[in-house]
Amino acid sequence: MARKKILSVVGTRPNFMKTGPIQAALAQRDEEFDPVLVHTGQHYDTAMSDIFFEELGIGAPDHMLDVGSGTHAQQTARVMERLEPVLEAERPDLVLVPGDVNSTLAAALVAAKLGIPLGHVEAGLRSFDRTMPEEINRVLTDQVSDFLFTHSPEAEEHLLREGCAGEAIHYVGNTMIDTLVALRERIEAQGEVTARGLEPGGFVLVTLHRPALVDGALLEEAFRQLAGLAAQIPVFFPAHPRTRKNMERLGAAAAPGLEIVDPLGYLEFLSLLSAAAGVLTDSGGIQEEATFLGVPCFTLRDNTERPVTASMGTNVLLGLRPERIAEVPALIDEVRAREAKVPPLWDGAAAGRIVEVIARGI
Ligand code: UD1
Repeated sequence: MARKKILSVVGTRPNFMKTGPIQAALAQRDEEFDPVLVHTGQHYDTAMSDIFFEELGIGAPDHMLDVGSGTHAQQTARVMERLEPVLEAERPDLVLVPGDVNSTLAAALVAAKLGIPLGHVEAGLRSFDRTMPEEINRVLTDQVSDFLFTHSPEAEEHLLREGCAGEAIHYVGNTMIDTLVALRERIEAQGEVTARGLEPGGFVLVTLHRPALVDGALLEEAFRQLAGLAAQIPVFFPAHPRTRKNMERLGAAAAPGLEIVDPLGYLEFLSLLSAAAGVLTDSGGIQEEATFLGVPCFTLRDNTERPVTASMGTNVLLGLRPERIAEVPALIDEVRAREAKVPPLWDGAAAGRIVEVIARGI
């Protein structure tokens, strides 16, 4: 029997952790599957892209589209224009797209219009906030997908309500957690906390990159608050390039106890996260990783598409209200006293389940 060609499209930093384990699981069944990897180039700096390919052992992409940065329309259109000929030449049996970034939706549209079966990894997440570009990407990608791979208990209900077919929905678990489980020993051996001069359990890790927080006036207040927090407990902040640019515009800089560094690799970051007293973030993936690791997580957003991290895990929604950063030290103790749990099937074996569904289904 001919091998099935499975083509995955990745574009941004969090995509790499979600797709890496699927590539590995497909490679383990190489008599059945021929995996092909396309990188759109939405993220392109070494620290935002190449380092993850090396650390996660994904291997170089088979196709690089080099789309780079731009407006939403430019970025989406560029991925579509450049991916179409690749899909026409490769003619895969299935296209897989992870997450909710512009590359996800662009690739989904191209595959659907070429009539190629499509699978969405991380289907059914909803913030119900259409001012977030990611929410548009989620809803539309799910609408054109034939396989809806979910990792969150409430996802199925969202998908059914939007008219998706029940047979298309497969609760498989969380492939981002697969990466964490697979690399746990290396994360533990990384020793990043000591290397950075921090104390285990004695610092707050920060990541902020959403336009709603960093592109406008709230960033200034966030920095004022971070300086206040840093007077009580050391604060370590690897800054996304979008945030760095906005900081430069504001003239925001480090303060006593507040260290700002360039983006970190996966192992460095997870090594710090697992030993942090808590993490302050607006990222989606970090809410999940913190829940898995049992580390208190404070999310500076009005909503989350990952409510299970708050209802079962260690996440607290602070709202888009930087003034609440002042509450973090007290909240750390509160969350540590909670009986937090890891959601079902966040167990390191999600990618294997996806490949099993694919083997049965296409
Ligand atoms: C994108 C995703 C977001 C995700 C985030 C993860 C969309 C709409 N947004 O946001 O959902 O949470 O990735 O990191 O798809 N830049 C660089 N180097 C890079 C990449 C970006 O300097 O390698 C700078 C550029 O100035 C660029 C800006 O960051 O204009 C934003 O990049 P972009 O990919 O448009 O969005 P992100 O904010 O990274």
